[in-house]
Amino acid sequence: MDVGLETSSRLSDRIERPSAASAGLPEGRIKMHRQFLEAVLARLQSLDRQLASLGSRDDAGFAERCGDALRNVRVPRDFELGEFLATAAMCALPDQGPSRTLSDHCTKLHDGSTINAYLFLWAESFTNIHDHAAPGAFMVLSGASMQSRFGFQPASPIVGVGQDFYGDLAHIGSELLLQHDVQVVHRGASVTHSLFHLAGTTVTLVVFGKHGRTQTHGFYAPGVCIDETTAGEDEVAWLAEHLRRVKRLSLEAACGLLGYLAQSLTEPKLIRVLIDALTRGIFDGGESEELVRALQSHCDPKVVQMVRSQQAERAFTRLRLRARNASELLAIAIMLRKLPRASWQPMVERGRAALELGSGTAGSWYTLTLQGLADAGIFDAGLSRPGYELLGHVIDSGSVQSACRAFLSAHPEITDPAVVASVERLSEVLTRHPVIGPNISAG
Ligand SMILES: [Fe+2]
Repeated sequence: MDVGLETSSRLSDRIERPSAASAGLPEGRIKMHRQFLEAVLARLQSLDRQLASLGSRDDAGFAERCGDALRNVRVPRDFELGEFLATAAMCALPDQGPSRTLSDHCTKLHDGSTINAYLFLWAESFTNIHDHAAPGAFMVLSGASMQSRFGFQPASPIVGVGQDFYGDLAHIGSELLLQHDVQVVHRGASVTHSLFHLAGTTVTLVVFGKHGRTQTHGFYAPGVCIDETTAGEDEVAWLAEHLRRVKRLSLEAACGLLGYLAQSLTEPKLIRVLIDALTRGIFDGGESEELVRALQSHCDPKVVQMVRSQQAERAFTRLRLRARNASELLAIAIMLRKLPRASWQPMVERGRAALELGSGTAGSWYTLTLQGLADAGIFDAGLSRPGYELLGHVIDSGSVQSACRAFLSAHPEITDPAVVASVERLSEVLTRHPVIGPNISAG
């Protein structure tokens, strides 16, 4: 298939494409990004041919080959997201088809015989916890994401049309994905993950197999798993639409509607309608407690737990949007999700360590290191290295004063009263911080 980069008659006949000059971009920069895009497309075509010739339905091998192809994509040192996107916009790309993605924006780069490839832009949205219907891989082209991986142990089926379960969702581990990092995605439960995007805009290059769609699941803490292939059924969509109007109803009417839905819907339908309502912020406002109570009296406690957990998740998202830089985002992520420290492994690949565990007389602590990151600017922050270390103690203890004590006892060499005072001042900075402060206690 033709995915040539010259502005083809095919597309240019239909779409007025701006030239580099009219876009106000230097020709040299366009040329560099164009060459990069050409290299990416050539690699995707070669991967497609290879997979087609193998004719393999070996999902594990398929996913690994996608991962290998992405690992060979080298992002230019002076890659600039805006210029790259402007360049892509000037090129003839495959028919984009209907856009249906979790990301804020999606561009289809390649529509092949065995794979599709996309650029996903993540500015404000995050993924839920999910598994995958098709094998593939993705690479961070620009920005940074925190990936968390999960395991789900089903306990009891939720009786309905889909494969829905109550059970236990357990966090297995998390890691930062930075520019060039590749995650291979196997079909099914082995890669059950969520992605929390740390940079202002994170861009991922995503490749997925086209063959054999199977069920895929959404997971909602603390223990709901739903079969997402049935999520779009008409009745649920209609009810969800109905519930979206809750914000325009009086509180009494909204509580009445929720109570009615909780009584009359099957649990799988109720869960789907509630998840839709949650993602649209219906439970975010000051009257959310009354809405949850209206639900509570008519439905399974596990469903109410799910609603509360998703409310907390959304509060986290709102905090994220107030953060001033990615370091704060990471701090918030660690703090609010309370990631077990053992899950943070030093990122030693290619000599980088974004987050290390240190240890001292007061125990171990997190240290966010700034050296060696692919893009130090992403983690630019107003905190010095001791500041991060102190923040690590705050994360562990949730208390500024005990964090301060832990920091000083981890550094017996600090005896100068002026330095001790500066540590205490730093703790005050954290306490007053608009995002971190409300989440820690001063004591
Ligand atoms: Fe995924």
